[in-house]
Amino acid sequence: MRRLTKKKALNLVKELDAFPKVPESYVESTASGGTVSLIAFTFMAALAFLEFFVYRDTWMKYEYEVDKDFTSKLRINVDITVAMKCQYIGADVLDLAETMVASDGLEYEPVNFELSPQQRLWQLTLLHIQERLRLEHSLQDVLFKSAIKIAPEDSPAPLNACRIHGHLYVNKVAGNFHITVGKSIPHPRGHAHLAALVSHDSFNFSHRINHLSFGEMIPGIISTLDGTEKVSPESNHMFQYFITIVPTKLNTYKIAADTHQYSVTERERVINHALGSHGVSGIFMKYDISSLMIRVTEQHMPLWQFLVRLCGIIGGIFSTTEISHIYCRKCTLE
Ligand SMILES: *[C@@H]1O[C@H](CO)[C@@H](O)[C@H](O)[C@H]1NC(C)=O
Repeated sequence: MRRLTKKKALNLVKELDAFPKVPESYVESTASGGTVSLIAFTFMAALAFLEFFVYRDTWMKYEYEVDKDFTSKLRINVDITVAMKCQYIGADVLDLAETMVASDGLEYEPVNFELSPQQRLWQLTLLHIQERLRLEHSLQDVLFKSAIKIAPEDSPAPLNACRIHGHLYVNKVAGNFHITVGKSIPHPRGHAHLAALVSHDSFNFSHRINHLSFGEMIPGIISTLDGTEKVSPESNHMFQYFITIVPTKLNTYKIAADTHQYSVTERERVINHALGSHGVSGIFMKYDISSLMIRVTEQHMPLWQFLVRLCGIIGGIFSTTEISHIYCRKCTLE
């Protein structure tokens, strides 16, 4: 009984066979057929090979969504060298809610404003990358994927400048990070800078931004302002940076991080009260946070898709060459 059903099933499967069976003796090998097969196989191998490279490659997918996270703090990573002695200057943040943020996370380190040849080389490299980034946006993808940045060491020399570096946590609202003369002292309504002790002529707000970023610090990512250098021959100078921060969730095969990108417009002017150009000299960074968030995900072709495409290539070339070969032979026979 069981053998019978097995036989039936086998017959059924046999009937389903869609592949034509031609007796060996009917099949004739020709030189032209051989050549066509050879070309077809080479072509298949080449395409399959190229397809494998596409499969191996990854790309970045950018998605935009509304940033729903409004309670967390924003981290500001700062590394700025100002051409003034540390005791004369102070950096702090004032946000829209007029709350002063403690800037304890910042360190003031006496350094030399002039760069050693090696450091200059690094800075020029940074600037070169920035320039390319402006022209070629796909480079950002490479930066997102890569992960190295080695800033050269400082060299000993007369210390005429101050390097302010470290990080601060601020509320996720617009604010103003600034470096001006004098240490800031909290005040019931905002804050004031204690600056009476320094003469205006000794001001020098020439500065170099070694690094400025928001959110998690990710080695290898070069931010928009990194490497910027502003040297002014005037002592009373106001440098302004208007920064729009875009929260960016980065998800690559190497890292997953909450970071931020930003765009900047710059403005600078000489403060001269006699000429009607009023203001406070210093470095001011006004930042605002975009309500749109970018999600950057590194993507990869799934294996099944690769296999389907491979079948498509092989099957497609096979059947097209077969058909064309048959028709060509018909033509020549007639
Ligand atoms: C400020 O310092 C830089 C670098 O040392 C120098 O080139 C510039 O002339 C200085 N400016 C003033 C006003 O002293």
